[in-house]
Amino acid sequence: MYKILTIIGARPQIIKAAALSRIIHKHYSSSLQEVIVHTGQHYDENMSQVFFDELNIPQPDYNLNVGSASHGKQTGLMLERIEDVLLKEKPDALVIYGDTNSTLAGALAASKLIIPVFHIEAGLRSYNKTMPEEINRIMADHVSTLLFCPTQQAIKNLEKEGFKLHLHRCDINHPKVILSGDVMYDNSLYFSKIAQKKSDILKRLSLENTEFVLCTIHRNNNTDDPVRLNAIFSALLKISKEIQIVLPIHPRTKKMLETNLDDQLKSQIFSNKDITITDPVSFLEMILLESHCKMVITDSGGVQKEAYFFKKPCVVLRPETEWVELLDTGTTLLADADEQKILSAYQELKNTSVEKFLPYYGDGNAAEKIAKEMLLFFQSK
Ligand code: UD1
Ligand code: UDP
Repeated sequence: MYKILTIIGARPQIIKAAALSRIIHKHYSSSLQEVIVHTGQHYDENMSQVFFDELNIPQPDYNLNVGSASHGKQTGLMLERIEDVLLKEKPDALVIYGDTNSTLAGALAASKLIIPVFHIEAGLRSYNKTMPEEINRIMADHVSTLLFCPTQQAIKNLEKEGFKLHLHRCDINHPKVILSGDVMYDNSLYFSKIAQKKSDILKRLSLENTEFVLCTIHRNNNTDDPVRLNAIFSALLKISKEIQIVLPIHPRTKKMLETNLDDQLKSQIFSNKDITITDPVSFLEMILLESHCKMVITDSGGVQKEAYFFKKPCVVLRPETEWVELLDTGTTLLADADEQKILSAYQELKNTSVEKFLPYYGDGNAAEKIAKEMLLFFQSK
């Protein structure tokens, strides 16, 4: 039996972890033992616990209760507490997801203790180091031993940074780069059938017979910069004259709207019956909204991809994206936080045809492939 220790902390990581936990439980429970460590980066019920309950993820074995803080403090606290758990549990490997501060802390803590790091969603690059996530993912990739790439582009990015493909040895100095596909594609396929049966979100938000645009905003450079935040909401206000907007709001954005949105725009947004602002929704609710909307407008990494899984056009509120293949399809347009660009992207994408959606993210069996590669690694030692 091999022991892996999984680090999660932020909403998208908890959701991603569901795919591997499900496969381990189903097919590998006699060979892989998973110890789950929640850093506590996200802690509101609707940013954390809801996903464990709804997606059947085992409750964390440890919650480090780190909570919100500046980058240095938050990452430092995580590093210290993850190290304690690693010394106690002595796992055969550490599994990290994505690019958050929890990812970075896990990668650093384990690599310094010479515990192999397996990075799921490796190789993504925005080539914009002013994003905290870009720093986290570069650092995490460069101390990892198994790098599970969701896309061919991620492999190319790693090759550019000197990673060698087709290696026979496999350790921190000779990492193995693997095209696994995307665990979020696995999850979207698996949970969309369940969501149809279990969620009543469309009824609850009176959307059953209404066309709507689904919107999410949480990137720090959008929420924390008043000029960008006002430009985005000004565009949303104009779009809402044509179509209903549904915005499940991230706690960071809710807080920053108070301080960073102009008073007049704030009252126009909050008194507007064509803009539905709700608390964050569960993943089943989210994929139901994604599969029934006309279009997605988002700055989220995960949501822009899920829009594509459900064959919806998407306006990305960022100057660049790590998921560059989406841009090639023409179904996804970058509009940054520029009011005019957002409005013209919305107009341009209104009549996107579904034939444009090509399969880029694997076959829905990424987690199975990842579990097999992990076992291969352990058995070769
Ligand atoms: C983090 C990740 C980001 C990811 C996002 C997913 C980093 C650097 N950023 O950003 O990559 O896309 O999660 O959602 O790791 N807050 C609450 N309740 C919570 C969690 C947060 O109120 O349960 C508020 C706090 O005011 C906190 C702020 O949101 O200060 C930001 O939270 P934090 O985890 O630091 O960053 P995110 O913006 O969520
Ligand atoms: N999500 C959710 N409820 C919400 C908003 C998002 O379940 O109210 C899910 C979404 O479907 C996706 C993930 O959270 O799977 C994306 O997380 P987020 O946008 O917070 O972070 P990012 O992907 O940008 O890192």
